[in-house]
Amino acid sequence: MSRAAAVKKGRAGKKKKRRADIRKVIADARDAARPTGAQAARIKRMADMMLGLVSEEAAKHPEILDVEVGGSYRKGTWLAKPEMDVDIYLRFDRSTGQDRFKDVAIDVGRAALKDFAPYLKFSDHPYVEARLQKGVLANVVPCYDAEEGQWQSAADRSRFHVQYMTRKLTKKMRDDVRLLKSFLKANGLYGAQVATNGFSGYVAEVLVSHYGSFGGVVRAFARDVVPGSVIGRAAREFTGVISIIDPIDGNRNLAAAISSANIVRFVLACRAFVREPSADFFDGRRAKRSRRVARRHWDNLLVVRFGFGKRAPDVIWGQTKKSAAKLAKKMAQDGFAVHRYGAHVEIGERRGYLFVLLGATEISPVYVQYGPEFSMSENLDAYIGKNLGDSEMMWVDAKGRLAALKKWDDSRADVHARRLLNRENAGGSADALLLPPGREGRPKVWIGSAADLGAAARGAAEELIATDAAIVRLS
Ligand code: CTP
Ligand code: MG
Repeated sequence: MSRAAAVKKGRAGKKKKRRADIRKVIADARDAARPTGAQAARIKRMADMMLGLVSEEAAKHPEILDVEVGGSYRKGTWLAKPEMDVDIYLRFDRSTGQDRFKDVAIDVGRAALKDFAPYLKFSDHPYVEARLQKGVLANVVPCYDAEEGQWQSAADRSRFHVQYMTRKLTKKMRDDVRLLKSFLKANGLYGAQVATNGFSGYVAEVLVSHYGSFGGVVRAFARDVVPGSVIGRAAREFTGVISIIDPIDGNRNLAAAISSANIVRFVLACRAFVREPSADFFDGRRAKRSRRVARRHWDNLLVVRFGFGKRAPDVIWGQTKKSAAKLAKKMAQDGFAVHRYGAHVEIGERRGYLFVLLGATEISPVYVQYGPEFSMSENLDAYIGKNLGDSEMMWVDAKGRLAALKKWDDSRADVHARRLLNRENAGGSADALLLPPGREGRPKVWIGSAADLGAAARGAAEELIATDAAIVRLS
């Protein structure tokens, strides 16, 4: 055999081996993602019991036409670990008023789940949730008996999602949805809630049904998906990096709830998996371990901690993320080199965190402010009159512009952040609104120390000062 032929054969061999590797890794992970017979039996017992309890309560209300199990349990795409939810839908007569719809649903949910310490949760409207056993949640969600396309509430589509996916997903595809969900989960990309801005369970179903398999989804995102890609059939144009169209509603872009950063992270994770498939991609702990934290970045990390009142998680997460962006923007405007910023919320503890990674925690105490040019001569005098007093020095620069050397209020990042936050606390201007409304007490601001952070907040901070796991894997 010639050398060239040998090389060619070697390459083909490698490619063949990689294909075999990928198939084996996927097959093993698929087995791991599938619930065991015992798990399935346990959930079935609880779902049946729940359906009985909810139906009994619903029967007392003539406006409820039907009670049914929906969501991933009904579709056979649920993950047993670490926690699963059984979604139970109350289907209301279309003529039921908004208030009654809400009130009756909450009454029914509370009464049916009364032995399991039910509590309220919020998405588009409130619904009742309870933990039936360790690892098993139940939701009681109202929807209208809407015809396809005539949606009256956000949950009305769910019944049609169930019908569509039941028809579309084969047994193997259902397992592949589970596999995709574990892949997303391990990479921190699972869940449409504001805290994550990731891929919902339904999106995982839509992608597998569109591409036919987990491998198909991963290969498509590794190679074919580009900015502007439209997955599915859209009834109109959408903005956003990519569009994932709800197959039962061409006017709904499911990707709108996914942040651009998470779409790109998913693309990178898919490329890394296709290049070097391994079980690590389905294991959150192992995925994290591949992240390298540069210790010295701690020294340049500004931390703000604040308390807040009782709020729905989506609301407080949304506000806290916005606050982090605003604080970072203000710090940058005021002369600090801002590399990255992020937010973290501990709902149970009612504590929020803003993180800003800086180039340096202390800046030069002075900066140059440029005034008008010579051509606008009248303004020159006015500028001098207004600025000479509080300038360290003033001159005409080489371009004929007036320049003034001015002092910053603060040159230390923590002192400056405290001032920005307190100005607002004292009822400052609208653009200084830096902390979410509903906060409690004075925020605590410090630089660099991880000692005052609990494990979860520390993890969130470390995420901000380390290379993304998906990027490490691609290197
Ligand atoms: N749903 C939706 N869009 C979302 C979230 C939910 O259309 N962003 C609908 C879907 O029909 C979904 C149902 O609400 O099936 C239940 O929501 P959820 O429990 O969040 O998703 P599941 O599909 O049940 O997935 P899982 O619970 O396994 O995450
Ligand atoms: Mg569910």
